[in-house]
Parts: sequence; structure tokens; C-alpha cells
Amino acid sequence: MERLDKILASQGAKSRKDVKEIIKSGRIAVNGKTVRDCAAKISENDKVSLDGTVVDLKKHIYIMLNKPQGIVSASNSKSEKTVVELVPNSLFRSGLFPAGRLDKDTVGFVLITDDGDFAHRILSPKNHIIKTYEARLANALTEEQRMMLQNGITLSDGTTCKESKVRIIEDGSEPLVEIQICEGKYHQIKRMFAAVDNKVTFLKRTKMGDLELDETLKPGECREITSEELLIIQNGKNF
Ligand code: URA
Repeated sequence: MERLDKILASQGAKSRKDVKEIIKSGRIAVNGKTVRDCAAKISENDKVSLDGTVVDLKKHIYIMLNKPQGIVSASNSKSEKTVVELVPNSLFRSGLFPAGRLDKDTVGFVLITDDGDFAHRILSPKNHIIKTYEARLANALTEEQRMMLQNGITLSDGTTCKESKVRIIEDGSEPLVEIQICEGKYHQIKRMFAAVDNKVTFLKRTKMGDLELDETLKPGECREITSEELLIIQNGKNF
């Protein structure tokens, strides 16, 4: 059971103060009866409506962002624009954070949520949820280097990486490769390619688990992830 004003304020763009005013003005009904008491206790099973329209009470929200370059993966920053600032008012609620960071110059799929348990489940290397990236490289990649990356490489500072899967999409002197990893170490992919004397010149996250970035989202655009899609993320466990 949760206070009516708290649960409504947690759902969207309205502040707790605005929500209180709306409740006091008699626009909210619980199970068909007008409720003007902000402290009224309600549960997930209660039917809450605003001006006669049922409000879909969600415990948590999950958002897919197509991250552009130049934006930091954080909830707030004094000096730089953050991924959370790109969430539109219609999806915004307090407590949002990116579940897994991309570097400032990396683009693509960032999952933004207010559900810490879910974020932990998909990020913990123990759970083996695969993250897929496309990387443009500065130099050709030999078969031997590809196998070294796949088998689990040791970085220059001694950090060990678990096995990965590397597939060449476009071969050549500046190849485009797909790489799949189930960890999220600092600058991991850039450092993995550096460990085989190569350099990542462009990096995009294309998938989390088995869920692909929705390519209809323009850079900087977001949309809500459905409950079916959340399962697709959690199913993406095997290379
Ligand atoms: N690996 C990197 O090096 N950078 C990212 O942004 C994500 C994975």
C-alpha cells in the first residue's frame, strides 16, 4: 500500500505538489469514488482515474534511447548533457538512470530505467546477458587476432575479459565488425581491440540481450520498452 499522491507523482512528469492540487480539486477517483485525501492508501489492484480516464499505474518504466554522440551516460552532470535529459516529459519520472554506460562518443542502444533490480540482472556478468556492438576499426583484423579476442583477452593493465564473439561484417583495411560481450568493463571494447594493436574509430551498441535497437528511433529519440521486449532482453544469453 502506498500514498495516493506518492504513487501518482512517481508515474510521470507531474511534481508531488501538482499531484496534490489535482487530488484536492476532486479530479481523481479510486475504484469509481472521488478521493480528495492525498494520504489515502492504495494498492496496485486499485483502479485510479483522472478526469474519468483510467491511469495505468506502473511500478517501473523501461526506455530505449538511440544515443547520439556527445552525450554522457549519467543521470545528472553539472557541465554536460546526459542521456536522462533526453527522456521526454511523457516518459519521465524521478530516479531514472542508464542501465549500463556507453562512452560519450559511442552511439546506439541505451536502456534507461528506475528499476535497480532489473538493471543489476541484465548487467551482472554472472547472468551472461549479451550486449552487441558494431565497431569500425582503423586497421585490418587477422583471423589470429579475431580468435584472440574470442577466446578471452588480457588487456594491457592485466584486466582479463571473458570470451566474446567477433564477426566481420565488412572486411578490408578499415573493417566493420560485430562484437558481442557479456561484461561492461571500462572502455572494454576499445581496450580489447587496442590489445590486438587495432583501434576503434566508431562504436554503436545495436542490441541488449536479443532485443535490437529500434532503427526507427532517430539519434536522441526514446520510446518505452514493452513487457514482451523486456523478456527478449533477458533471453539473450548465448553467443
Ligand atoms: N566498450 C567501449 O569501449 N565503449 C563503450 O561505450 C561500450 C563498450
